[in-house]
Amino acid sequence: MAASTAKFPSFIKSKLSTKVCIVVFILAIIFSQIRLVVMVGLCKVTCDTLPLPRTYVVYRLQPGEVIEVDGKLVDKAWTEISPTEPFVDIQGKYFPKPRFETWAKLRYDDTYLYIGGYLQETDVFANQTKHDSVVFKDNDFEVFTDPDGSTHWYKEFEINAINTTWDLILNKPYINGGSPNSGFEMPTMKSAIYVDGPVNNPLINDSYWTVELALPLKDLVTNDSVARAPPKNGDQWRINFSRVEWHVRNVNGHYEKVPGLPEDNWVWSPQHVINMHLPERWGIIQFSTDKVNGSKFMRDPKWPMYSSLVAVYNAEKIFNAIAGYYTSNLTQLELPSYVTEGLCAGKPQITVINNYNFNATVKPLDSTLPTGHVRDDRYIWFS
Ligand SMILES: *[C@@H]1O[C@H](CO)[C@@H](O)[C@H](O)[C@H]1NC(C)=O
Ligand SMILES: *[C@@H]1O[C@H](CO)[C@@H](O)[C@H](O)[C@H]1NC(C)=O
Ligand SMILES: *[C@@H]1O[C@H](CO)[C@@H](O)[C@H](O)[C@H]1NC(C)=O
Ligand SMILES: *[C@@H]1O[C@H](CO)[C@@H](O)[C@H](O)[C@H]1NC(C)=O
Ligand SMILES: *[C@@H]1O[C@H](CO)[C@@H](O)[C@H](O)[C@H]1NC(C)=O
Ligand SMILES: *[C@@H]1O[C@H](CO)[C@@H](O)[C@H](O)[C@H]1NC(C)=O
Ligand SMILES: *[C@@H]1O[C@H](CO)[C@@H](O)[C@H](O)[C@H]1NC(C)=O
Ligand SMILES: *[C@@H]1O[C@H](CO)[C@@H](O)[C@H](O)[C@H]1NC(C)=O
Repeated sequence: MAASTAKFPSFIKSKLSTKVCIVVFILAIIFSQIRLVVMVGLCKVTCDTLPLPRTYVVYRLQPGEVIEVDGKLVDKAWTEISPTEPFVDIQGKYFPKPRFETWAKLRYDDTYLYIGGYLQETDVFANQTKHDSVVFKDNDFEVFTDPDGSTHWYKEFEINAINTTWDLILNKPYINGGSPNSGFEMPTMKSAIYVDGPVNNPLINDSYWTVELALPLKDLVTNDSVARAPPKNGDQWRINFSRVEWHVRNVNGHYEKVPGLPEDNWVWSPQHVINMHLPERWGIIQFSTDKVNGSKFMRDPKWPMYSSLVAVYNAEKIFNAIAGYYTSNLTQLELPSYVTEGLCAGKPQITVINNYNFNATVKPLDSTLPTGHVRDDRYIWFS
């Protein structure tokens, strides 16, 4: 899926008074965190509760455990773990609940990131048969990975109900002038589908389909500066899942799309706009070598810097949309006070280059951590 339309619920605008509250509230909506909505009442942010997207711990396969990629999520390695939260509308939880349930499960070993996807569905159909065709013209299951969290060189993977796949790499998001490269291949990837019912038969109702994937870790870190394959215990990657769902009807015994209706986009962690290509909003997976259920998700101590960098990036884009140039003057930017006052990370230092480019640096409060940077092309890095 590709479009990008900003649609915030209108009540956001009427409810709030101060700048800080607005920002906290929008962040709360963006990351679907109830406890932040409560904090809007108190109107302050604490550094260790800065909103996070959805998180999930991925457990390494234990000795003797194997995943047979046959489409069925019946291996013990699948049944013994929790799924992600059910997917929600891409625009957030205040939008209509998806008609069908969707969730994912993840495991890994030295070679693969294993992904199991469950898609409840009464009408399983698929038309795309060629590898690297536009799979989201059909109902599909999509995986987006940005292992190093830089927002550049992320990978996209799509699969339909007849095992047709599309793998691509993007040098940067479309909105930043990025271009998709479908020449990117994962030759040792494994994929399989199980459908509980027939495909392309509107006379018989299905109940669900499942996707089983083994994506090669070394391909997923292509051109990433930081992420390593295989990941070490505790490493964190940015990832997101999405499901594209069309409205279909029975026309003379075959499925046709209902004309005039757009597709639905159901995601693990909501983006708040109809645009998957905003990697800084994706969820976070944490790799664990512990026994299943033995690890807790740990906040990355760099998260306050990351949050400040994303806030500065977004504020500069908004400023530029109005003024036509970037500014290095923090007071001209709509930023939460924790950012401008340097409460959770250093105050941002912005360098504007010839009006039309910028980079910003945020230092850590804890000097043992690296320094964070963001550029006008969205690239985020630490040095
Ligand atoms: C892990 O936790 C989930 C959710 O509570 C539970 O369903 C599952 O059985 C647990 N697995 C193990 C191996 O403890
Ligand atoms: C599904 O696609 C994979 C490639 O990802 C291929 O190896 C496998 O044979 C296909 N399975 C079937 C049943 O076509
Ligand atoms: C399939 O299920 C829907 C409800 O989910 C129902 O309206 C429809 O009649 C069913 N169709 C068949 C062929 O059973
Ligand atoms: C990785 O980056 C290099 C340098 O920018 C580029 O030439 C190459 O095509 C990229 N690799 C892929 C698979 O896109
Ligand atoms: C699938 O392809 C057929 C043949 O092109 C077309 O008639 C039909 O509308 C398509 N179905 C869907 C659901 O896109
Ligand atoms: C997943 O992507 C969707 C669409 O971009 C976004 O709404 C959602 O916040 C993302 N969630 C997570 C956990 O990445
Ligand atoms: C920064 O912007 C504020 C608000 O527009 C203005 O009052 C202030 O003089 C500016 N500071 C500098 C150094 O330009
Ligand atoms: C930011 O841009 C300026 C001007 O091009 C450059 O001198 C500086 O090294 C850049 N800073 C970073 C962190 O890239």
